[in-house]
Amino acid sequence: MTLAIVYTRASSGIEAPLVTVEAHLSNGMAGFHIVGLPAAAVKESRDRVRSAIVNSKFEFPIKHITINLAPADLPKEGGRFDLPIALGILAASGQIPMQAIATHEFTGELALSGELRAVRGILPVVLAVQQTERILVVPDENGQEAALVETARVRTASHLLEVCAYLQGRQTLAPCKVKHTAPHETNLPLLGDIKGQQHAKRALEIAAAGRHSLLLVGPPGTGKTMLATRLPAILPKLDEAQALEVAAIASISSSGFDPQDWRRMPFRAPHHSSSSVALVGGGRPPRPGEISLAHHGVLFLDELPEFNRIVLESLREPLESGHITISRAAFQTVFPAQFQFIAAMNPCPCGYAGSATSRCNCSRDQVKRYLSKLSGPLLDRIDMQVEVASLPESIWQQLAEADTGEDETEAKRISVLAARARQLQRQQCCNALLKASGTTTHCQLTREAKLLLKQIMQKLLFSARVHHRIMKVARTIADLENSAVVTDTHIAEAVTYRALDRMKLLA
Ligand SMILES: Nc1ncnc2c1ncn2[C@@H]1O[C@H](COP(=O)(O)OP(=O)(O)OP(=O)(O)O)[C@@H](O)[C@H]1O
Ligand SMILES: [Mg+2]
Repeated sequence: MTLAIVYTRASSGIEAPLVTVEAHLSNGMAGFHIVGLPAAAVKESRDRVRSAIVNSKFEFPIKHITINLAPADLPKEGGRFDLPIALGILAASGQIPMQAIATHEFTGELALSGELRAVRGILPVVLAVQQTERILVVPDENGQEAALVETARVRTASHLLEVCAYLQGRQTLAPCKVKHTAPHETNLPLLGDIKGQQHAKRALEIAAAGRHSLLLVGPPGTGKTMLATRLPAILPKLDEAQALEVAAIASISSSGFDPQDWRRMPFRAPHHSSSSVALVGGGRPPRPGEISLAHHGVLFLDELPEFNRIVLESLREPLESGHITISRAAFQTVFPAQFQFIAAMNPCPCGYAGSATSRCNCSRDQVKRYLSKLSGPLLDRIDMQVEVASLPESIWQQLAEADTGEDETEAKRISVLAARARQLQRQQCCNALLKASGTTTHCQLTREAKLLLKQIMQKLLFSARVHHRIMKVARTIADLENSAVVTDTHIAEAVTYRALDRMKLLA
């Protein structure tokens, strides 16, 4: 036999498309060529494969060797093709049997000694192979990650020799052991740590219930960052499918997936010096950015106006669509990015505008310029803007005296869960994700509510987009109360969550 076919997987976004490795040995001048859009690391595979085969006491055929990675137009990156290429050569030269290879897929980088090294992004591969009848063979080090898919048929090996002995029927390969670590919800920070700030805590509950984006505005040290970090504790927990998607994205990221993070809700808080690529993803090969690492979780941008404006603008598309498309000349990669957006900022450059405890030194112009750092289209995409006020010393004392040590996190999480269930039953999505037509259909306003909203719109000169945001937030407030209709009380409360719009009007 001089032609062998081995199945493996490439990496494209969070997909793992099938790659057929064809190994052909022919007479003629001895040589070793890899074709089919291989990147530099794949071309280097020739040297690794040759040494691994020789050091495993197999014979490296002195023939004209052609390796074709099909489909040819799919970019191939990394050392993951080493093992399938080596097996292709060994099968084509008759040193291992062909039959068993057809029922398996292989992935793994080879050391010169023939040992198998872990590859990045194993979870998407496992999920893709699960859709087929084939068995996947992965390096030992990838076993724990592969085991997250409980139903997958995966075998692990630590050396090329082990894989060959397995294919020759001389030894078995161990299935990977399911070793789920406990979910980490238990050590999430709790709401009870935050004293006072009832208005902001209520806003956090509403944001969690309707999956609304939220901007916290207030002087330094009022607890904005504390509030944001408490959001995961009151959100519904990840289900198995969501947890797998989160793990798959982490698996292809530059830092990889840590099994300790299994089922932990993503909470990403990139620094304001982050670049567009760090935030939305990119590079070569394309890697997911912070917005995709926050998929099914929370993206928190602290000190929002300090972010580069172009970086912030790149958030507009994913905020709307729930995914990001990274286009390169030859190909496109799509990463999911359904995150809940939360941001924090000071009301002015010195931070103390409107503070009850300190004087603000900023001129009106300075405040205006500071607030205008955030573009209208971005602010338009934020459902709730909440003022987090500074607390005078006397109030701190009262709060400390009245503190019973009770924590409201679990109670709030339960009411969030109930409100979410109502939304899903009514419209199959969270209120924040309602489109314009859905908002009109599902946010039924009473006569008084309609009248109040009309008056507010006229008085505060809100845009049509803000009109819809208020209706959606009011719908969530009604859902928290299990009310079928949206009343004027719900509208009145929803309007209180437009703090920045009011500040802009006053500035
Ligand atoms: N409401 C509060 N209850 C308890 N502690 C608080 C509260 N507000 C602030 N603190 C204390 O102040 C510290 C700073 O809070 P935090 O970082 O959340 O403020 P911030 O509003 O984000 O400030 P900045 O604008 O400077 O980022 C916290 O670590 C906490 O110790
Ligand atoms: Mg802060």
